[in-house]
Amino acid sequence: MHFDTPDTRNLPLKAEQKIRLVRFLELIGDYLRDGHAQQHGAYTGMDDPVPVLPVAETLPRADSLEVLEAEVRECQACPLGRNRIKAVPGEGVLRPLVLVIGEGPGAEEDASGRPFVGRAGQLLDRMLDAVGLSREQNCFIANVVKCRPPNNRDPQPEEIAACAPFLARQLAILKPRMILCAGRVAAQTLLHTSEGIGRLRGQVTEYQDLPLLATYHPSAILRDESLKRPAWEDLKALRARLAVLDAGYARDQGEA
Ligand code: URA
Repeated sequence: MHFDTPDTRNLPLKAEQKIRLVRFLELIGDYLRDGHAQQHGAYTGMDDPVPVLPVAETLPRADSLEVLEAEVRECQACPLGRNRIKAVPGEGVLRPLVLVIGEGPGAEEDASGRPFVGRAGQLLDRMLDAVGLSREQNCFIANVVKCRPPNNRDPQPEEIAACAPFLARQLAILKPRMILCAGRVAAQTLLHTSEGIGRLRGQVTEYQDLPLLATYHPSAILRDESLKRPAWEDLKALRARLAVLDAGYARDQGEA
């Protein structure tokens, strides 16, 4: 949206009020014309394959997981909404130690409305458990896109962009201490890069002042057993950083 800004400083009050009214109507007009796409960051940078997540401060103030989940379940901002059985907003605790971010729901998640409940999810739960983490106690599990891409294909940049405000809002509401990206799509999206997961994994970097670690997606580990060892190294790096961030966790893990 763009306004030519007339100088209203020397105008009599009524004229200035009219200009303000016109501006307001323009604003409403833009909203009605562009609707969700404008609010929810329509993807326009087709030459840039990795969309940027909006910054949490630019998003609604009075927000809650309940409001967000209801919006996710209604959302039709991209074509994935048309073919889903259930949207998958995510699950876990408020103020988690770790926000785990996957790619998008698969068949079991689509059927149940819950994240990471298939084979990959069971492996993810075991990986988290190995370092004292779980969705019941100290994690929240979400995905980059909240509806299943057909045939488990990668989510498209415009689908990621349409869904990005939900993830940004989850970050703002949940206030995790750390982010764990499970797999390439989540890592590339948050780090805004097209670098491969082999290079992105294993080192703690930052996302909006939060420590972020990327590791292999559990589905990739199920396909290729040789990824188990580096994934375990990643989990140890996650545990070490969490022990620095949280004294209770460090005590429970015997790292105090
Ligand atoms: N894979 C993901 O990335 N997310 C899920 O929720 C399930 C499988």
